[in-house]
Amino acid sequence: MRIFGLIGFPLSHSFSQKYFTEKFRQLGITDCRYDLYPIEDIAELRTVLRNPGLCGLNVTIPYKQAVLPFLHEKDAVVAAIDACNCIRIVDGVLRGYNTDTVGFEASLVRKLQPHHDRALILGTGGASKAVEYVLRKLGIDYLYVSRNVGYGVLRYEEVTADILRRHKLVINTTPLGMYPKVDECPSLPYEVIGPEHFLFDLVYNPARTLFLRRGEERGALVENGYDMLIGQAEESWRIWTASS
Ligand SMILES: NC(=O)c1ccc[n+]([C@@H]2O[C@H](COP(=O)([O-])OP(=O)(O)OC[C@H]3O[C@@H](n4cnc5c(N)ncnc54)[C@H](OP(=O)(O)O)[C@@H]3O)[C@@H](O)[C@H]2O)c1
Repeated sequence: MRIFGLIGFPLSHSFSQKYFTEKFRQLGITDCRYDLYPIEDIAELRTVLRNPGLCGLNVTIPYKQAVLPFLHEKDAVVAAIDACNCIRIVDGVLRGYNTDTVGFEASLVRKLQPHHDRALILGTGGASKAVEYVLRKLGIDYLYVSRNVGYGVLRYEEVTADILRRHKLVINTTPLGMYPKVDECPSLPYEVIGPEHFLFDLVYNPARTLFLRRGEERGALVENGYDMLIGQAEESWRIWTASS
């Protein structure tokens, strides 16, 4: 049996286990299993790694950075952004990847237009680093927006109507609006949003957050985090099953 799984905490509503279990069923793959490892401390990863059939892991909140010291090898993206959400294990060697970047880029470019050349990234947490990496790769200028003061970072109250007018791509990497707190959204002058804007929310539950609904009402393009989630899962599978 080849075993794959997810480490994080808490893991009460894991998308990944349902996704991979269904994938194995649909493809008739009977020698693979996807388990959940809800570890309360990253040190417990050592116990997880003793599992002889373990071939790959996904990593979620709060361990995308904490897992780095356990890796024997990192791919270039992990080295660049210091965040790993996918590990391939071959003969006891752990190689780390970041498939959030792949999922985000694939989903973003489907609707991206040439005038989406300046972006606001809302939030400065782990997921924002994957977003930043992709924007740099695509040559899109960006500013961070945060609750905290920082060099080169705007606070929400500093995002004026003029700034939002000039930044046609707005990416929410905060958990605001996520179920069950569905009546929350980032504080922005939404009244200046128009059809040239593209609002991308990494949150996928609910499918239409208040942030996206407020954009949609004003004619903006919108995208939630669901395709990104599928994209990162499929990229993990590709990595785990690649021949070398
Ligand atoms: N679709 C996908 O595949 C995918 C992949 C990864 C993550 N996600 C989603 O992306 C979101 C962020 O993930 P993450 O790992 O980056 O989480 P995180 O590190 O916990 O939080 C992200 C950032 O959001 C801001 N924030 C947190 N609480 C806030 C609040 N109450 N009001 C305003 N800002 C707040 C903070 O930035 P500041 O302190 O700078 O304000 C924080 O650093 C989560 O909802 C996660 O589910 C989706």
